[in-house]
Amino acid sequence: MGISKSDPVIIVGGGAFGLSTALHLSLRGYTNITVFEQDGQIPSRYSAANDLNKIMRVEYEDPFYTDLAVEAINAWKTPLFAPHFHQTGFLHCVSEKAPEKAVATLKRFQAAAERHSQMAKYVSSIQGQEDIRQLCWQLDGSLPGWNGYFNRYDGYVHSANALTAVYRATQGRGVRFFLGEGAGAVDKVVYENTPRGRKSNGIRTKAGRFHPASLVIVAAGAAATRLVPEIGTQVVAKSWSVAHVQLTDEETSALRGIPVTYARDLGFFFEPDPKTNLLKLCPMGGGYINTDPSTGLSCPPQSLAERGFLPHEDEIRLRQLLRQSLPALSDRALVKKSLCWFADTSDSDFIVDYVPQTSSSVILLSGDSGHGFKMFPIVGRWIGELLESPNDQQQIPRWSWKAPKPETKSSNWGGDVSWRLGETRELAEVQRSRTSKL
Ligand SMILES: Cc1cc2nc3c(=O)[nH]c(=O)nc-3n(C[C@H](O)[C@H](O)[C@H](O)COP(=O)(O)OP(=O)(O)OC[C@H]3O[C@@H](n4cnc5c(N)ncnc54)[C@H](O)[C@@H]3O)c2cc1C
Ligand SMILES: *[C@@H]1O[C@H](CO)[C@@H](O)[C@H](O)[C@H]1NC(C)=O
Repeated sequence: MGISKSDPVIIVGGGAFGLSTALHLSLRGYTNITVFEQDGQIPSRYSAANDLNKIMRVEYEDPFYTDLAVEAINAWKTPLFAPHFHQTGFLHCVSEKAPEKAVATLKRFQAAAERHSQMAKYVSSIQGQEDIRQLCWQLDGSLPGWNGYFNRYDGYVHSANALTAVYRATQGRGVRFFLGEGAGAVDKVVYENTPRGRKSNGIRTKAGRFHPASLVIVAAGAAATRLVPEIGTQVVAKSWSVAHVQLTDEETSALRGIPVTYARDLGFFFEPDPKTNLLKLCPMGGGYINTDPSTGLSCPPQSLAERGFLPHEDEIRLRQLLRQSLPALSDRALVKKSLCWFADTSDSDFIVDYVPQTSSSVILLSGDSGHGFKMFPIVGRWIGELLESPNDQQQIPRWSWKAPKPETKSSNWGGDVSWRLGETRELAEVQRSRTSKL
């Protein structure tokens, strides 16, 4: 179709993918970009990226994503992003009780890192407590059976601060923002019928106001299916837990420079944040979904209150992780507990494509599958390329639209994903067991 650079473009969602898109389209010369975000602030409290940190690891089991992550890490070293990238290294292990699946996954990651020409020299093999202590004396637990590798090429990014930086940069470039329940929450993409078929002419907010656009880009994270129900169960809102330990100034200082530490069968943690003295932890697991029985689609819960807890099984895993690695913290209170919602696909591939039968007027940018933030500096480029691609065709087949499979009522592929462990559970079930314990 080819929109012109002065045509109005609407981006729904001011999270990681939406902000990156606003930045790149503006850099490419698009001059009429508006972002709609349901929260009254950016970083949005609904964004999966509104968090202290995310792992920036370059090695993937799949060389396609490794190459992208190399490109992304180079972008993280440029002035807009560099203040938020911390190359602490990534200690990637399994503990003694890890199931075979976790061991096999770890080996594939290690092999990917070791065969990569740029990365290989940064990678060392880790066998047990002694090797780990030489690398990082602060990890003073018994580290039972911890084996794996250390990759000095990797690190973490301060995701909330990076969102803020790009929010400011895009505002500075003239991107407009509508924020909050009243102005920024989008109810639906609006369509009109044309002689050549259905075409979007804009969006309607929850408050009822219509905003015209030549192109609508839906970058609504876990909530994608609400705005593009055509995708069906190909995108599933899923969540993982996040929790923190509140440290003192002295404790934060003592842990300065520790690598991102990951036992695949238990979970991971990061260098504590010097501003807040919070040490962030995430348990590994199959995650939680929230299926609406009437549609079979999983959507994130609407209220923030429903996100603010840590399932019991996850707390057990996190305490085990701490006991093995940082035992002095293992009985401390866990604070700022939440479920963080992302858009999962069964093959962990992103979706970057036009929605069919919209005359190329709507793009779905979704399916981050819980590994998208490292790509933050480059995501928007993929939209720029799609807009300039011949015949409006996504040139990268794995990112194209996924036709819904009507017969699959079940969107529970949890245990089948190669890099995850454990089964996926329904949020309602976990909440029930939570209340019955009170
Ligand atoms: C616990 C956890 C750990 C993770 N760890 C990592 C990691 O270590 N490394 C990594 O690379 N990635 C990680 N991720 C994934 C990363 O956070 C996501 O890939 C990334 O945030 C996806 O960006 P997004 O823009 O698609 O979604 P989001 O960042 O969630 O943004 C979506 C935005 O859309 C807005 N929105 C939704 N519906 C509407 C509407 N109707 N109207 C207006 N606005 C709307 C929301 O409010 C939100 O701000 C992790 C995710 C989780 C949950
Ligand atoms: C952007 O597009 C909207 C909708 O068509 C229009 O009202 C507005 O004047 C445009 N702004 C600019 C700066 O072109």
